[in-house]
Amino acid sequence: MIKVGRLLHGNHMKNKAIEDLPDLLDVSSFRREYHGEELRLEKLYSSPFRQFHAWFDEATHCPAILEPTAMVLSTSSLRGDVSSRVVLLKGYCKKGFRFFTNAGSQKALQISENSSVSLLFYWEAMERQIRVNGKATRLTRAETDAYFAHRPRASCISAWASRQSEVLPDREALERKTAEFSELFEGCEIPAPDFWGGYLVSPKALEFWQGRPNRLHDRFVYRKVGRNWIIERLSP
Ligand SMILES: Cc1cc2nc3c(=O)[nH]c(=O)nc-3n(C[C@H](O)[C@H](O)[C@H](O)COP(=O)(O)O)c2cc1C
Repeated sequence: MIKVGRLLHGNHMKNKAIEDLPDLLDVSSFRREYHGEELRLEKLYSSPFRQFHAWFDEATHCPAILEPTAMVLSTSSLRGDVSSRVVLLKGYCKKGFRFFTNAGSQKALQISENSSVSLLFYWEAMERQIRVNGKATRLTRAETDAYFAHRPRASCISAWASRQSEVLPDREALERKTAEFSELFEGCEIPAPDFWGGYLVSPKALEFWQGRPNRLHDRFVYRKVGRNWIIERLSP
């Protein structure tokens, strides 16, 4: 039997044999067509940030998109181990895209080893995907503090209580820590923890993907050449 940390010692695990399942669970019948509007070179802005802004603005006005700021951040270690997770976009400008996180987390450790990252937005209801490749750098303490000061109080306390990506013995340990910090900061302003901060992802390439019928999707990539951006259509 495989031992999975302390999990198999608990009484509350579902213990159904994997052998109950067929060898392959075929999900290929989940198939849908895409019907997006044609994306043409003439319709694109010459700046990828302006183009991002136009699509992001549409996403924020689309009632079916509940979390338009959600983006998949992929990082990799020096050895080439890759990992992805969702983080929230907290700002963008001509320099790039911002997010905030715990500086001791797995993603932060990987970024410290290899600053090349990828961001991915998938707005299903609009049949659109945006892919960003670039370098992540730390925001200044002042920028992190300015953002932290506007977070809801409970989120600030959670940031102090969570040593993100570390193993927890159980849920109660996290709740105890939260209660301790809640008491500590009662009636006071909560500063940003020094183990917490923001990143700027400065892109060298951005790709805009629009779903189209029969898998003949439209794709355009902006690549930075010197100080300019070149735009090319990619095969779907
Ligand atoms: C919708 C959504 C939004 C999230 N936003 C953030 C975020 O802004 N910052 C963050 O550190 N983690 C965020 N998370 C949690 C991360 O996906 C991830 O679990 C966490 O950051 C630990 O990742 P790591 O161990 O790879 O560092 C979010 C998760 C989801 C599903």
